[in-house]
Parts: sequence; C-alpha cells; structure tokens
Amino acid sequence: MIHTKGWRKPLAIFVYACLSLSSFVNGQSDAGTTYDAKAQAFEFDLGGVELSQDRFLDNQGRTLAYLKDIDVERLLYVFRTTHGLSTQQATPNGGWDSPDFPFRSHVQGHFLTAWAQCYAVLQDQTCYDRATYFVAELAKCQANNEAVGFTGGYVSGFPESEFAKLGNGTLTNGNVPYYAVHKTLAGILDVWRLTGDNTARDVLLSFASWVDNRTKSLSYDAMQKILQTEFGGMNDVLAEIYHQTGDEKWLTVAQRFDHAAVFDPLAAGKDEFDGLHANTQVPKWIGAAREYRATGDSRYLDIARNAWEFVVKSHTYAIGGNSQAEHFHAPNAIAAYLTNDTCEACNSYNMLKLTRELWLLDSDNTTYFDFYETSLLNHLLGQQNPDDSHGHITYFTPLNAGGRRGIGPAWGGGTWSTDYDSFWCCQGTALETNTKLMDSIYFHDDSTLFINLFMSSVLKWPEMGVTLTQSTTYPIGDTSQLKVSGQGDWTMKIRIPTWASGAELTLNGEPLSDVKATPGTYAEISRTWADGDVVEFRFPMSLRTIAANDDPSMVAIAYGPTVLCGNYGDQTLSGTPTLALDSIKRSSDSGLDFTSTADGKDVTLSAFYDAQGYNYNVYWTTTGNFDQA
Ligand SMILES: *[C@@H]1O[C@H](CO)[C@@H](O)[C@H](O)[C@H]1NC(C)=O
Ligand SMILES: *[C@@H]1O[C@H](CO)[C@@H](O)[C@H](O)[C@H]1NC(C)=O
Ligand SMILES: *[C@@H]1O[C@H](CO)[C@@H](O)[C@H](O)[C@H]1NC(C)=O
Ligand SMILES: *[C@@H]1O[C@H](CO)[C@@H](O)[C@H](O)[C@H]1NC(C)=O
Repeated sequence: MIHTKGWRKPLAIFVYACLSLSSFVNGQSDAGTTYDAKAQAFEFDLGGVELSQDRFLDNQGRTLAYLKDIDVERLLYVFRTTHGLSTQQATPNGGWDSPDFPFRSHVQGHFLTAWAQCYAVLQDQTCYDRATYFVAELAKCQANNEAVGFTGGYVSGFPESEFAKLGNGTLTNGNVPYYAVHKTLAGILDVWRLTGDNTARDVLLSFASWVDNRTKSLSYDAMQKILQTEFGGMNDVLAEIYHQTGDEKWLTVAQRFDHAAVFDPLAAGKDEFDGLHANTQVPKWIGAAREYRATGDSRYLDIARNAWEFVVKSHTYAIGGNSQAEHFHAPNAIAAYLTNDTCEACNSYNMLKLTRELWLLDSDNTTYFDFYETSLLNHLLGQQNPDDSHGHITYFTPLNAGGRRGIGPAWGGGTWSTDYDSFWCCQGTALETNTKLMDSIYFHDDSTLFINLFMSSVLKWPEMGVTLTQSTTYPIGDTSQLKVSGQGDWTMKIRIPTWASGAELTLNGEPLSDVKATPGTYAEISRTWADGDVVEFRFPMSLRTIAANDDPSMVAIAYGPTVLCGNYGDQTLSGTPTLALDSIKRSSDSGLDFTSTADGKDVTLSAFYDAQGYNYNVYWTTTGNFDQA
C-alpha cells in the first residue's frame, strides 16, 4: 500500500547506503516490519510539516537562536579533557556541565538531537554543520580511548571508572552515569537518522557495543542492582538502535535495562509510584512501548499503558505536568502538593513522547491527544521565557498560590536557565521540545489523515499528492480552517476534544450535518477531495473547572484547552484566593484575558502559557457558578 513501512521515508535510503545489503535485507526489513505491524498510524517526516506564524513558532525561533549561538568548543570541553585531548583553549562551562559536576556531558546529547531536528525541519546548514562537527570530534575522543586507559567505544565527559564504582556499589558522588550515556547515544542516533551522517552511525554503534561489553557478563541480579541508579531510557535508545539497524543484538542489550522493580508492579496493574523519583521512571516506560513494538510481547504494552494511565489520571496537575520536588506522591495527592517545585519539565517532555507512542498503537482513542494538548499548551509552551532571545526556561513550574515561573531550588539559581551556567536536564529537553513542536499535529495511515493538534501549519503528504494548510488563532479563536491542495480519495479525521461540546464542521461553507462531531471522538470526513476544498471547524469554548483529585473545592480554571491564571504582579499571596466564578468575563476576542473578582478584588485572568514575569495563581477555592450567557 502507500506506506508499508512506517519509518520515516528518507531513512530507508540512508540505511541502505550505510549498511551492507544483506544486513538491510535480513535485518532492517524484519525489524521494521515487526515494529510497524503494531502501529495503527505513522508520523510524517519532520521536514513535511512547517509551522506558520504563531506562538509556537516564536518559541522555536528563540531556541534556534540559542542553538546557533552556543560555543560548540565549550560544549566539547569535558569530552576532550576526559579523553586526553586538547580543549583548544575553550572556557569550561558552568552548572551541570562544569568539570566537577558528576554527570557533566549529559546535556550535549540534547544539543545533538536539537541540531539534527533543526536540520530536519528547516534544512538549516548551521545546525547540520554543528551536529556533524560535534560527532566528528566525539569520534576523535573515542579514538583516543586506549591512550587514556578506557575500553573501546566509550565517549563521555567523566572517566569510565564511574561505571566500575556503580557496579561495585562505591559510587558516592551522586553520579548517574548511564543517564548521561543514554542522552549521548540518543543524540548521536538522531544525528544519524535525521542527517544520514555515517560518522554518527560509527560512533553510535561503537558506543552501543561498549554498553553491550560492559553489561553482557553481569548476572541478572547484578544488572538489576545497577538499574537502581537513574539510567534514563537506555532500553528505549537501544530498542531504537535495533529498529534502525535490524541487528537483534541491540534488542537483547535493550532488554538488559528492563527494570523489574518498576516494571513488575505495572504489569500487575499496581500504582506503586509513591516516593519514586518521577522522571527516572518515564523514559523506561517509553522504552517498554518500543520494546513492545520490537517484540510483540503484550506485557510491555501493559506496563507502558498502565504507567500512562496512572500518571495522567492520578498524579497530574491541571496544566498537564506531574511531580513535586521531582517525586511522585500517593495517588491523587494534588491539592496536597501545590508548591514552588511542582511539575519538573522533563517529565512532561517524556510523557508527551510516551503519549505519542501509545496513540500510534491505538489511533482511534482521542484521550491521548487530549492529554498531549493539555501538557504541551499549558506546561511546556510556557516553560520558555518569551522575553529571552535565547528562549531560556524554567525547571519547575510552581503551582503554589502566588507562584512564579523561573523560581527554583538554589542549585538551579532560583531563576531562568542561562547560556553557560545552567545546563539542567530541563534545559536539554526544552531544546528538543522547541525544535519538534510540529511533530504531532498530523499523522497518517494508508488512507487517513489524522489532525490531532490545532496549530497554523502546512503539511505535505507526498504519497497522496496533498498539501494541507491549517490556519487558526486557536486557542484564542475557536475555529480552524483546513485547506486542501491536490485531489484524491482519503479520510480526514479531526480530534474533537472532550470539552468541545457543540463542535461544528463545514465543507466549503456548507454544514457537514452527516459527520458526527462528538466530543472525545474523531470526526471523520471521507470523500473524493477536490483541489481547493476547505474544511472549517469550530469548537465552542467555555469556562470550566478542573478539580484537584484529592480536594474538589480546589480548582483550576480553563477556557477550552487553555488553563487560566490570575495575574498578581509582584504581590505575594498568603493563601489560596477565592475566585467568584460568576465574575469572570472575557475582555476581548483577540486575546485570552478575562476580568474577575477574587477575595473581593479585581484580578485579570490570562492564559497560563503566557504567565511569565509575574506572580500568578492557578488553583482557587470558588464561590458561585460561571455566568456564561
Ligand atoms: C566489545 O567486545 C568485543 C569482543 O571482545 C570486541 O570485539 C569489540 O571490539 C568490543 N567493542 C568495542 C567497542 O570495543
Ligand atoms: C570499585 O571500583 C573502583 C573503580 O574502579 C575502584 O577504585 C574501587 O577500588 C572498587 N571498590 C571495590 C570495593 O571493589
Ligand atoms: C520555595 O518554597 C519553600 C518551602 O515553602 C521555601 O523554603 C523556599 O524559600 C521557596 N523558594 C522560592 C525560591 O520561593
Ligand atoms: C483510551 O485510552 C485510555 C488510556 O489508556 C483508556 O483509559 C481508555 O479506556 C481508552 N478508550 C477507549 C475507548 O479504548
């Protein structure tokens, strides 16, 4: 059919060129077939979707400015010193990349992914050059291993002896060495698959071979003990290397990183998250989803689905983020933990990846993208500071009364990230988020185009000879226009968000009265499309409350998909304000500002994604009911 292999199209070409013919024929095709047999829908190439001018594109622009400005020599510093090479007079970085930080060199993998995505999205030469130069320099580090007494394939900013300490239980400096290795592998993999760079393939497979050599003779128990220390998504990236190469060896290595203490309760349907470090777990579940696709073993799917279900339903705040002080608490403990260190951003970055994976396996289910939209719009979009030309970010998103973005723990400077003195995990994942904002708007199968997110953008669907232009001011406006160029028979499926009762669809100005637009389903339009056809939809928005699971009297306010917050300027709040629901009135159609009264005083409510530079309030106690005439 049109798309027998779900893998991004150009890859097949790269892989063909990179590997021997027999490994392509015997390996990649098998791996690809098993993998794709499980999928009900497929992603488009990153370069197939272009964002048009809107709030999301602005975020992308600021992140791109940072990616192109940052001094690559400084990012190479810890790798070069560790591998005995000249640092070329570069200044060492500060923050989580400083030469004495235990897992220095974790952030560079995020830069590699972000540069590769920048290239894939925009064909940007600067990003391409940075990605391939960096990988070539890593190859030199790898080539010098023998001289510094490391075993073959190792590439890192800290010495290999950290792994021996991890293995013999003497690691005492808080290092998470496999966490950093995961980031580096994932970054190099993305450079390989998004640019086709052969050096990236060689460095990657050699480093993966180092992981194999380091772990293959360990007993199961010894390995499980190592997995007690945060290791990112080692199972995920190795399953992806299997998928990319077709070599079963990598699947075996991936499965060595299956963490039984976390997987077993999930497979049994038990939420045992209370007290666990949150972001340590999420990448393991993404790995489980990918191991399901690689093996067909439904236990992996149960693990990933149950994890998703528990987190989203019992551990997630109204803005789509989870965790407090980086940890999970008892199920439904939400109002109990409204503090200045809620919602670590990496968790949402990883939950979005997991959500996307699970939806690909269950593409009729709108629940996944209802969550995806909530979290992307209300948590991650506003994680970036729009007043900063390099798009710096906040680690936590405080949800205490009178909270403020850019407030964090002392080690985070209590502020926004910086060019050279932060390099937190959340800064790294934000580089990735803001260079792939378009990757989940559209998906397809052989005859269907799914529209999951509502963002101004242009999609090219070459297999169908279709270009689709989405024009919208959503979520400020409640309509979106989808203009089709090209003709043919296919089905358009539009996600109708669960809150969107009364959704209306038109085709070329005429109501589509025979198309069901039920909230929480996909509206399905099957026809022979003609060039110039225009579908328009309207999702009437209204005010609604989102109650904390553990305290129905504590609610956040949303308008359509957008969580609103009160603007308190520089005022501190001593407790939860009480909002008069019947006082809330929208001030203008061109923005998401509302007038309201809380504790007897006027308060402006605005989109939480735009709440930077002031103290805000998200969770309220309330009086009365909405007055939505
Ligand atoms: C891993 O070990 C095998 C067998 O000893 C060896 O052939 C291979 O070169 C090693 N990998 C690396 C990256 O050194
Ligand atoms: C653990 O490994 C480290 C690094 O190789 C080594 O220095 C240390 O002596 C080992 N400790 C034990 C108890 O084996
Ligand atoms: C965050 O909250 C804690 C506990 O209430 C407090 O000690 C700390 O000073 C707050 N930090 C900031 C930056 O507001
Ligand atoms: C959709 O997925 C969610 C999350 O796994 C699940 O709770 C729900 O039952 C699914 N809905 C349907 C109709 O299968």
